[in-house]
Amino acid sequence: MSDTTPGWAWVNGSLLPASDRHISAFDRGFQLGDGVFETLRAAGGRVTELAEHTARLRGSAAGLAIDLPDDLPARLARGIGDLLAAEGLGGPDGDASVRITATRGTWMSRGLLPGPDEHLTATIVIQAWAVTAAPGSTPAHGISAVTSRVRRDPGNPLATLKTTSRADYVYAKLEARRAGADDAVFFTVDGHLSEATSANVFLIRPTADGVVELATPSLACAILAGTTRSWMLRWAAGVGLRPFEGQLTRDDLALASEVFLTASVAGVVPVVRLDGNLVGDGQPGPWTLRARAAREAFITRT
Ligand SMILES: Cc1ncc(COP(=O)(O)O)c(C=O)c1O
Repeated sequence: MSDTTPGWAWVNGSLLPASDRHISAFDRGFQLGDGVFETLRAAGGRVTELAEHTARLRGSAAGLAIDLPDDLPARLARGIGDLLAAEGLGGPDGDASVRITATRGTWMSRGLLPGPDEHLTATIVIQAWAVTAAPGSTPAHGISAVTSRVRRDPGNPLATLKTTSRADYVYAKLEARRAGADDAVFFTVDGHLSEATSANVFLIRPTADGVVELATPSLACAILAGTTRSWMLRWAAGVGLRPFEGQLTRDDLALASEVFLTASVAGVVPVVRLDGNLVGDGQPGPWTLRARAAREAFITRT
């Protein structure tokens, strides 16, 4: 999938041309990465799992004690609707990637944290990009991934929050690019599979008792609790796959017959090469393609 250039941005309740100046240089999101965000998909004018994304945004914000307005869900629903309409993406043929960013706000002083009695107003921004299939490089063909040198720490209270401090993830993407790969996967400090730079990881593996397992790192493995991940675990149980959430090793990853990533906008993305080695036969596997089609049908309600 690829994105096109947006014409508008929704900033604190107003639709502004995308090329305008939008936020202060003193905004703490810009200065310190002191903010949180969500990315979601809106296909055919329907926003997928907005309630789940809003709840996760609130949870991430609570982790950093960033105050968000009580009427946030209504504000976001209205803002997304207005923005999609302005971008021409709100109709039955529209398909958009929507990003919601909320920072602690603008603070004119220096330092890491305003005093306990200084109440800042959060900066809230919504952006939307058209999602179109990129010819010849659709995720259905599969991607290659490498292992990042960055390790994730399950004991870090920030590991499960979707904050705008993304330097680790940018670094991992650079590692992938330098290796000629598309993405990177993280392991934890204690050697267990964690997640990819902007997606959760799933393995398909046959088990000794003849059941095929859909395995993914548990929430204790320094991962984001993905909305697509939750959906996928529910879906698995209904199609005869045994869902497994737990600790997965490098060997588990190497022995998997299929590997795929999940995220709200990209959906289900087959991984066909890992650290230079083929996954399975190097083609997207049957369960991966089935999962991808099922999730796409859910999003587009087809
Ligand atoms: C680090 C990380 N993990 C997992 C995900 C997948 O989450 P979701 O399925 O809610 O999009 C994302 C999504 O952007 C992410 O950034």
